[in-house]
Amino acid sequence: MVRPVTGRSRRIVIVVKALHIALAYLTVAGFVIRGFWTLAESPLREERWVRIAPHVVDTLLLSLGVVLAIRLQVSPFSGWLAAKLLGLLAYIGFGTVTMRARSRTVKVAGFVGALASVVYIFAVAVSRSPWPFPSG
Ligand code: HEM
Repeated sequence: MVRPVTGRSRRIVIVVKALHIALAYLTVAGFVIRGFWTLAESPLREERWVRIAPHVVDTLLLSLGVVLAIRLQVSPFSGWLAAKLLGLLAYIGFGTVTMRARSRTVKVAGFVGALASVVYIFAVAVSRSPWPFPSG
């Protein structure tokens, strides 16, 4: 259940949410590009800015998510936000496997797992349901 917000508080929520969504697309785009560079063994993957930028984007994305949850009074322990955080753990885990595994097969499996996790996170965020898929 999301608390209705009004006035200045509402404007802050709109701006924070817009930034959160923009960063959500940016993290996925960045992950897909780095995933392909990793699979292609491109030297671009080792560039300093390529290694640092995801940390900056992800820290901002998660911080703004926390701000939204506090402002909208959404509990992280119940319903869709808990499901989203579990999806986030899976995304981080699969992402680490993609970037660090030695075997190409394991890297590809990690990449597919990370993409599936982030699709789930988006679906949960938009539907605000822990089971965002049509049932029956
Ligand atoms: C990879 C990580 C994440 C992605 C891809 C993501 C994506 C999104 C997207 C696309 C929306 C907009 C949904 C809509 O259409 O209304 C959203 C909203 C939101 N997200 Fe995230 N998010 C992430 C992480 C987080 C985290 C870590 C938190 C909190 C700890 C969080 C809390 C929220 C909240 C409270 C909203 C607003 C929901 C509402 O308007 O009712 N998100 N997120």
